[in-house]
Amino acid sequence: MPRVTLNEAVGLLTQGHTVAFPTETVYGLGADATIPEAVTRIYTTKQRPRFNPLIIHVATLESAQKLITFTPEMLKLAKAFWPGPLTLVGHKTANCSVCDLASAGLDTLGVRIPKHPMAQDLLTAIPTPLAAPSANPSGKVSPTTAQHVLESLDIPVLDGGVCPIGVESTILMCTGKVILLREGGITREDIQAIVGPLSVSTTTKITAPGQLHSHYAPNAPLRLNASYPKVGEVFLGFGPVHKSHTNLSSTGNLEEAAANLFAMLRALDGPHPIAVAPIPDVGLGRAINDRLHRAAAPRPT
Ligand code: TXA
Ligand code: MG
Repeated sequence: MPRVTLNEAVGLLTQGHTVAFPTETVYGLGADATIPEAVTRIYTTKQRPRFNPLIIHVATLESAQKLITFTPEMLKLAKAFWPGPLTLVGHKTANCSVCDLASAGLDTLGVRIPKHPMAQDLLTAIPTPLAAPSANPSGKVSPTTAQHVLESLDIPVLDGGVCPIGVESTILMCTGKVILLREGGITREDIQAIVGPLSVSTTTKITAPGQLHSHYAPNAPLRLNASYPKVGEVFLGFGPVHKSHTNLSSTGNLEEAAANLFAMLRALDGPHPIAVAPIPDVGLGRAINDRLHRAAAPRPT
């Protein structure tokens, strides 16, 4: 499947087809969230379990307010971090246009406004919201380039270059006290500066991809918190001590490490186990460690 222009993408999406598009976090597998057949194509293309709700993307706060009810806390968060890598889960409005399949039948919906200019252009050109999970087969490593998308899915792609943040959005459940559902591109520290101490979801009523055990996984097994590779392993380093290896950031910069994470896991994926250096569990390091732990988790048999 080819790369497509913005106009072609708009045409395909409005006819109910799926198109992959860039966001600042990862590439999304987009479809018109108001057309059940289009949303069905997302689940079948990704082989994603139907009980996993999708994130809905819009261009403006006004559009978001048509889909979910905003509490004062959600408005504060939206003003602080939108457009950007934050997903707010709220109660659906009475006349929410998103089809039930996209929210897996829940009465809540996850919504975000991406800041990638091409995502903004696309969402501005289309009058309806777009459902978009990451554009990879369910459970596999998320794509941060158009080429990554094309390597695993046979779908049209809008090519917007490399995703600058490199890990998915942070997800906050906002129907009561704010709960962190998934670490992501906006740090826990930054969110707490706006809404105070956060609860973190440990187990959950909803079993969703970010919460399934094995996820974000390359084919090769991972060994975490490794100081050095053992014989027969390839190595993913972090910081100046691992300068001679593939390195998430040789200066120890967590933003750079997040941006490199998925591309480097793909590049190292092969016949050898991947040993990964320890990553500090602060700021964006929490999102990186979350992805690494799920990538290293036991695989379904
Ligand atoms: O950065 C991102 O968020 C990317 C880009 C493409 O925008 N999208 C993404 O979508 O990561 P996905 O499908 O991989 O993540 C969807 C997650 C689900 O796993 C679930 O945890 C959460 O969003 N979610 C969505 N709707 C929800 C709801 N109503 N209640 C609880 N969690 C929800
Ligand atoms: Mg995903």
